[in-house]
Amino acid sequence: MEDMKKHPPQTSPLDVTRATPLLGGLSPEAFMRRHWQKKPLLIRQAIPGVVSPVSRRELFDLAARDDVSSRLVQQTAAQGWTLRQGPFSSTQWPALKKPGWTALVQGVDRLVPAAHELLSRFRFVPDARLDDLMVSYATDGGGVGPHFDSYDVFLLQVQGQRRWRIGRLREPRLVPDAPLKVLSHFEPEDEWILEPGDMLYLPPRWAHDGVAVGECMTCSIGFRAPARDEFAREVLQRVLDAAQDDAEEAAQQPDSVRNSASPLYRDPQQMATDSPGRIPPAMQAFAQEAIARLMADPNSQARALGEWLSEPLASTWFDEPLPLALEEGLRLDARTRMLYDDRHVFINGESYRAAGRDAKLMRCLADQRCLSAEQVAQLSEEALGLLDEWLQCGWLVSCQG
Ligand code: SIN
Ligand code: CO
Repeated sequence: MEDMKKHPPQTSPLDVTRATPLLGGLSPEAFMRRHWQKKPLLIRQAIPGVVSPVSRRELFDLAARDDVSSRLVQQTAAQGWTLRQGPFSSTQWPALKKPGWTALVQGVDRLVPAAHELLSRFRFVPDARLDDLMVSYATDGGGVGPHFDSYDVFLLQVQGQRRWRIGRLREPRLVPDAPLKVLSHFEPEDEWILEPGDMLYLPPRWAHDGVAVGECMTCSIGFRAPARDEFAREVLQRVLDAAQDDAEEAAQQPDSVRNSASPLYRDPQQMATDSPGRIPPAMQAFAQEAIARLMADPNSQARALGEWLSEPLASTWFDEPLPLALEEGLRLDARTRMLYDDRHVFINGESYRAAGRDAKLMRCLADQRCLSAEQVAQLSEEALGLLDEWLQCGWLVSCQG
């Protein structure tokens, strides 16, 4: 168990019944019941002595990468709000002495272990909902203006001070022609200055405006909540892709096998017709039944959903695998998304059937994001083969790394 100790509370499942300073003395269970998606919560000293997961310099280095999404927002009297998308070279930033600008960098958790560990503290919310950790740096007076987000957010102050004003969204009208969504009317109901370690939770669609008081850095722990239509499109698309793969496989089979799996349309009752252009109603009914059958399979839908939710971002690159003996124990790379349901495990958009002890250990890997040497030793040959494949893809790393 030596290796596991190097990644303590962040990787072990949280005790959701235990009161924690992170949530202002509430347990995750009580927080979810009282605040999640319901009402804001200001938490003084959620993480006492917090250290920013990146320095300003490191943040700017990340913003220079083309696989990282970064933005520069400024408000000036002459130009109003301006927005530029990265990557940014070090010479492209405004002077640090210049007030009123902010740099925002998304997905810091995927590249910086300390940011990944910070995000892991919020795993009392399912991974399927957790999105990323964004870090913002602002000079005095900098911010992105009063706005609302469609998703829940925890705003953790990690350096310097920021004044937050929040209020119910009464009037969702936006400043016309601005390059970012700034509310044209904002009626704050509360106002606080957040110090390092303080945190503000906001449910979706709460108006908020954070303005830097001197130079400051803020981490946003963000969530994902796809819209209903997006669920339908993404899942159906994958169910169709899987049906296409099955059809191609079936094409290799003898006719008798193929036709019993997917019978041909038959019409022994078809009458002679004097309107040959009309589609036969029996054919319409057959098509409807075919679609209903394809979509009625809960297993293929569950598989498609898990594959979609576990897909890494399009810009994700995994590192070359390091020589690693599985027997030493392993953990998931910070970029790896691993989820499971009752029948499958999903990793980075792939699905696998798992049962028995293998399933238990794979779920443990998804929940804890690591497996000890002792746990690895209990896996079947087949499961070890899979882990070896994942290792070759750079999806797993050594416990010591
Ligand atoms: C920021 O960190 O400046 C913006 C975060 C937000 O308001 O959502
Ligand atoms: Co916001």
